[in-house]
Amino acid sequence: METGKTHFTDPMTKHRLAVFASGAGSNAQKLIDYFKTSPFATVALIVCNKAGAGVLSIAEKEGIPSLLIEKEQFFRGNAYLPQLQEAGIDFLVLAGFLWKIPQVLISAYPKRMVNIHPALLPKFGGKGMYGQYVHEAVLQAGEMETGITIHYVDEHYDNGDIIFQTACPVLDGDTPEVVANRIHQLEHLHYPRVVEEVVRNLEQTNRD
Ligand code: GAR
Repeated sequence: METGKTHFTDPMTKHRLAVFASGAGSNAQKLIDYFKTSPFATVALIVCNKAGAGVLSIAEKEGIPSLLIEKEQFFRGNAYLPQLQEAGIDFLVLAGFLWKIPQVLISAYPKRMVNIHPALLPKFGGKGMYGQYVHEAVLQAGEMETGITIHYVDEHYDNGDIIFQTACPVLDGDTPEVVANRIHQLEHLHYPRVVEEVVRNLEQTNRD
């Protein structure tokens, strides 16, 4: 396939999702499970920037191809766009992926890339705000509630249009680990179905 142009799926065939993750991959696992029975999309590729990350074992166990990426090619090369295109990927799902997305990919997947953030953006977002750091900052600030945000990805950290948010309480005595667990439950419950909804809306747009 030609580099620089992204071929988008025929509306009658399943969308092919690439899940980008850097860590344990609990959200990646939920996405894989959910889309096993979805008529609209399938998880076709796992992209990871960290050798030995849990998400790579998940990919292997599930028989899903994975792509281990390195910094130089991602930020100063082709950003692996040809590999994504070759795998027929037409939608990117970030699930605990800790590198900024280069402009090459943002241009190639307009409104076809979403991220999940473990707080109620625009609060507690931006560079360095990921995982435990987010929950620690929420507790430090004495917030009464926190939550999750699913949003489109643009060239700035945690900045794209918000698609979905839902909140949960922060309780007396909560530790970052307790908050992380509560947040993970919300993420696992909502992320797969929200991604499916976005992908279904694309289909609508394609047909219009
Ligand atoms: C998730 O809570 C996700 O929201 C967060 O990383 C965790 C990954 O967990 N992402 C960020 O903080 C991005 N700024 P997982 O590897 O178990 O899915």
